[in-house]
Amino acid sequence: MNDTEAKAKLEQLGQTHLLQWYDTLTETGQEELLAQIEALDPQLLSVFRQYHKDGELPRGRIEPLGALTMEEIAQNRERFESAGLEAIRQGKVGAVLLAGGMGTRLGSDKPKGMYNIGLTRPLYIFECLIHNLMEVVDKAGAFLHLFIMTSEKNDEDTRNFFEEMKYFGYDPEYVHFFIQEMAPAVDPDGKILLEEKGRIATSPNGNGGWFSSLVKSGLLALLQREGIDWLNVFAVDNVLQRIADPCFVGAALLSGCECASKVVAKAEPEERLGVLCLEDGTPSIVEYYEMTEEMITRREPDGRLSYNYGVTLNYLFRTEKLTELLQNTLPMHIVNKKVPYIDENGEKITPTEPNAYKFETLVLDMIHMQKDCLAFEVDRSREFAPIKNPDGVDSVVSARELLQKNGITL
Ligand code: UTP
Repeated sequence: MNDTEAKAKLEQLGQTHLLQWYDTLTETGQEELLAQIEALDPQLLSVFRQYHKDGELPRGRIEPLGALTMEEIAQNRERFESAGLEAIRQGKVGAVLLAGGMGTRLGSDKPKGMYNIGLTRPLYIFECLIHNLMEVVDKAGAFLHLFIMTSEKNDEDTRNFFEEMKYFGYDPEYVHFFIQEMAPAVDPDGKILLEEKGRIATSPNGNGGWFSSLVKSGLLALLQREGIDWLNVFAVDNVLQRIADPCFVGAALLSGCECASKVVAKAEPEERLGVLCLEDGTPSIVEYYEMTEEMITRREPDGRLSYNYGVTLNYLFRTEKLTELLQNTLPMHIVNKKVPYIDENGEKITPTEPNAYKFETLVLDMIHMQKDCLAFEVDRSREFAPIKNPDGVDSVVSARELLQKNGITL
């Protein structure tokens, strides 16, 4: 795209301010800005205008969804585990680590997985995850393909770190990195922000695009060649989670469901966890802030909360179904965040309060595109230690406590 074309595109979108510093840039700087303008998706701006008019999309009819409880799982453990191990040995299961997020709440500018949570020795988040996956590798006697999603912002650091740490003992032949896409940030009037005079402020576009980014990076051929029928998608920040857990895999396979989710019983009705339920008859996740008082407190005859099962961002999807769904668009979420920017005088502003909106699609919305979903309950004290904040709830401090309770030396 040349500068005349860029100007025409921006005029149409009401974004000509992006060229305010164009003449002061180096030739390479100009080319980079033009490439960013070319990549701008006009659709996002109309989504933003719509959001201003209507707010988030309305929800359908919500009903509770039960889970396969820990008790039921214990009774069937052997059967589930052997089916899961068999599938893993046959190479039918892959794992996908979502590590493209910015981890802003943790306040470190390095990839979250590089965070050292050790006390007397280095123990990195990535190391905990690989260690957990290695237990399955040892049990099955076979490596699984591990796909790691990064973003433009953290790809190089992540790859270098894995190299430097020798993949924490994992076979590098089975590790595949791919980069997710970015989306621009806008101010409350829908004007796209610049983070430098020649650079649009962008951030990773949410964790919902993981499968399409994996496909764009050419990895679908590998999935098909290797016969990887199931993908276990998981977040970077839960250091206790079991990855490609044979029992979970086996239960999902035998259930015949299109997807499965590891869930935990809520610690208290008000806990800030998205809950797995039914929306207009198909599985769906309702975020804690979307729940009405009636939903939060409603109980079943046995006393259990009706909306009891919180998602842990550990899902199993069928590759075939995901491929079928590739053409479907996920709902766009618009989130209010702090985004540093260059103001109209060319000064760099680092806001202390949320000043901008980012666009994200979410993996949880993929659940609603499936016919059914097995909710698989796990013991939160053994499998749920998310690190979102430096201290308090879901923090480095709470995760350290849980790791120690599980016999891990820090
Ligand atoms: P979070 O919702 O905690 O987002 O991500 P975040 O960006 O890491 O953290 P904050 O909100 O800025 O503090 C849940 C999981 O999804 C991944 C994260 O890396 C984490 O594993 N994720 C999130 C992506 O891979 N890409 C994204 O664009 C966003």
